[in-house]
Amino acid sequence: MLRGSRSIFMRYFGSKFTTLPRLGEILLQRVNKGTFCDPFGGIGTVGAYFKSLGFHVWTGDVLQFAHCFQIARIHRQNVPSFRQVRSRLGLNSSKDVLEILNKRKGRAGWFVEQYARKRRFFTVENARAIEWAWNTIHAWHKAGWLNREENAVLIASLIHAMDQVANTAGTYYSFLKTWHRKAKRPFHMDWMRPTRGQFAGKCSLGSAETLVSQQAFDVLYLDPPYNERSYAHYYHLAETIAQGVHPQVHGISGIPDRGLERSVFNDRSKAASSLEELLNEARFKWLAFHYADDGLIPRKTIRSILAKYGTFEEFVLYGRGYTTQNRERCVEHRLYLLKHD
Ligand SMILES: C[S@@+](CC[C@H](N)C(=O)[O-])C[C@H]1O[C@@H](n2cnc3c(N)ncnc32)[C@H](O)[C@@H]1O
Repeated sequence: MLRGSRSIFMRYFGSKFTTLPRLGEILLQRVNKGTFCDPFGGIGTVGAYFKSLGFHVWTGDVLQFAHCFQIARIHRQNVPSFRQVRSRLGLNSSKDVLEILNKRKGRAGWFVEQYARKRRFFTVENARAIEWAWNTIHAWHKAGWLNREENAVLIASLIHAMDQVANTAGTYYSFLKTWHRKAKRPFHMDWMRPTRGQFAGKCSLGSAETLVSQQAFDVLYLDPPYNERSYAHYYHLAETIAQGVHPQVHGISGIPDRGLERSVFNDRSKAASSLEELLNEARFKWLAFHYADDGLIPRKTIRSILAKYGTFEEFVLYGRGYTTQNRERCVEHRLYLLKHD
């Protein structure tokens, strides 16, 4: 049983959710406390788990929506009180705040037009509800009624709820031709609750290179993208929501015309040298490098890069991945565990 995993979070490709118990077991036999840095943290799955095990967790990601999830799950120790919003609107509890966001009384705007009418990512009714919640959070933030963390918790909660009713096979690259069962359910937002842990985690928005150079860590856990699928592109809609923008969009995915950056780790010609550069910047006692066997950096290259830092062991981890065709398949992950010389 995973401690702190109260609910299933949005599907995130490359998620290590199913390998967490094995990963924990392997690491805990060697190190059971201290700092744990997860600079490719995604929606916080690994960081939240190690927070629950008593580590002092530091996470990062280049995507703003991923950062919001990390704040909600790893930095926060409780759901915020939303003091300003409550006092401005005369509300008694944070439950009342949710009730306003779930009222779904907005008019159809940009979001409904682009992602329900032109592209069937959501039913029109759900898209209206999402747009209302999004506009309301944005207006509160603009008025200064939400601090940075409160805004992040609301945005993460909204994206999670939106994902529960999205007519997709898991990413926002395309929508399904026929309505999926989950897309017909009514949109309903609930709090994204934090994982309990001894320490509040530190979460930053930015590149792994910047985070790893900030201090020495007991465990440096690296889980970079391992293929050419860019997270910024596949999760563009979640990112648009987090950024609070209405970009020009195009194509079947409704992807923004500009502003989405591919990671160097999605690029076959740059992935290995980027890993080397990252490790040059980093200071760590233990390095756990998590990578798929069929990833862009060949195993031989990984081994020769890691060998410069110490001796390492290899563990094959099996997890259930998924394809965008909504078919389950087996993915082999390898964990390279290295103790720094
Ligand atoms: C394989 S996923 C991490 C999955 C996560 N461990 C989990 O279990 O859900 C890789 C993440 O790295 C992020 N990323 C890509 N390039 C990055 C960079 N240069 N610095 C920081 N994060 C980056 C992506 O946005 C993505 O969220």
